[in-house]
Amino acid sequence: MSAPAEKARAHAPAKVILAGEHAVVHGHPAVALPFPAIMAAGEARPASSGVTIRSDRYPDLAARLNLDGTEYAPTARPLQPVAEAVRGALEALTRLGGDLKPFELVLSSGIPAGAGLGSSAAIAVAAIRATFSFHGRTVPPSLLRMLATKAEAIAHGTSSGLDPTTVAAEGPIRFVRDHAPIDLEVQEPFGLVVADSGQSSGTGRMVAQVKAGIEADPARREALNTLGEVADLVAELLECGDIPALGRELSRAHDLLARLGVSTPRLDAMVRAACEAGAFGAKLSGAGGGGCAIALAPISQLGEVAQAMIEAGAVTAWPTQYLIERDAPR
Ligand code: MEV
Repeated sequence: MSAPAEKARAHAPAKVILAGEHAVVHGHPAVALPFPAIMAAGEARPASSGVTIRSDRYPDLAARLNLDGTEYAPTARPLQPVAEAVRGALEALTRLGGDLKPFELVLSSGIPAGAGLGSSAAIAVAAIRATFSFHGRTVPPSLLRMLATKAEAIAHGTSSGLDPTTVAAEGPIRFVRDHAPIDLEVQEPFGLVVADSGQSSGTGRMVAQVKAGIEADPARREALNTLGEVADLVAELLECGDIPALGRELSRAHDLLARLGVSTPRLDAMVRAACEAGAFGAKLSGAGGGGCAIALAPISQLGEVAQAMIEAGAVTAWPTQYLIERDAPR
């Protein structure tokens, strides 16, 4: 093992889902993108004993672990997912051999929580990467996904693994639960607006609500199945670079998600406003019940579309020319 770093910093981006949220929990495909316009970060600093984890989100709390991953004080609920992520990373590092060094891990995030942007998954991935990097190692992608997915299950209960897999990915992916993701190649930048409704939501609650809905109502089950078909089309159109057709599929996905009962009047208004302002298409992104809407727009119209979404109720909008460089440092 190479010499441990004095201090190690690592990042993970937010995520957006182009198609297939909720359907992916039930075995259908989904297509999602890391969204590096907003990031979570972890900094591991040398300490005198054990591991202490702090987060800017909960300044009064700390999680404390022994170097073998066992807790030496009960961890407060909000820090349990990230404590699980670090515990798993310590166990993996022990299996890989070499000495573990005491450290303090300080987490910070610009990703709003409860907004459908994968905030908890990004924090877990940044924490795992920082823990490995502090010990002079890079975490292998499949191990990173596995550790972050376990942490996410603590954060949200039932989780398909889509969020941690996306924020750990180097670019857009097609994902099916319990399978390795498939990388999707995007050749040209495209215009993407992500807008936060400011209404916070809970993934676990929305997943449970959809499950109850499809069990009770065959029309909802049908909508869920169609969402899976839309996701496959979205993967093809993204790789072909047919952004106008992709936009139309996004709008179709929004209507199907609304039929599943996960949209809100504000998200509907933001989606409508984006389309009226020239977007190719728009949808809610994530678990719904609040959170974000996304719009695909001509690059020349990103500003107008973002402004229209703000006027329709969004509290923040991130207009972006989306193109990810694979192999960038993380
Ligand atoms: C949440 O970002 C996506 C959902 O499909 C839940 C999951 O896949 O775990 C709603």
